[in-house]
Amino acid sequence: EGGLREDLREVLFDADVIHDRVIEMGRAITRDYTDKHPVLMLGILKGSYPFLADLARAVNLPVTVDFMAVSSYGAGTKSSGVVRIMKDLDRAIEGRHVIIVEDIIDSGLTLHYLRENLRGRSPASVEIAALLDKKAVRKGKELEDMGARYVGFDCPNEFVVGYGLDFKGRYRNLPFIGVLRPEVYS
Ligand code: PRP
Ligand code: MN
Ligand code: MG
Repeated sequence: EGGLREDLREVLFDADVIHDRVIEMGRAITRDYTDKHPVLMLGILKGSYPFLADLARAVNLPVTVDFMAVSSYGAGTKSSGVVRIMKDLDRAIEGRHVIIVEDIIDSGLTLHYLRENLRGRSPASVEIAALLDKKAVRKGKELEDMGARYVGFDCPNEFVVGYGLDFKGRYRNLPFIGVLRPEVYS
């Protein structure tokens, strides 16, 4: 295959595996929100963009989409712990049913901050849909169980890229998710 694939040590979730799981998640959301729509799917830029695009198309209900851009990682491989809002919502979410859509819950800091921030804006409900959850590595009572209602896969404690996940802004366009070779980032 060559190209970007050669920068990976291994593939964790292939494109068809991701696709099947996202379809299941879309069905679950469709079921749960039959009486709670339109659903506002809130994508957290930039990592959520492929997942949001696929998940929204797997939901068979009226959906609206908005975006926030936050950053906790900058250019590194470790969370800085500081969450910055780079772009806020375009419209108020008062009375709306909101699903925050994220590619990954790692330390949990981003979503913990976002959920509290959004709850302060009086939405009808706030749930989390995350494709990957690094649950096993989280420490601290509040972060261990983020209460994400929709989770695609448990994620091993590796630096993963692809399907929205980046290293220094690259690899988001990989259609699968994998682990970078250490040589690539050292
Ligand atoms: C990554 C990822 C999540 C967040 C998870 O975003 O997309 O949004 O970190 O990490 P946490 O649970 O430790 O907070 P990043 O800050 O790299 O921005 P990006 O989505 O633009 O790549
Ligand atoms: Mn992100
Ligand atoms: Mg990133």
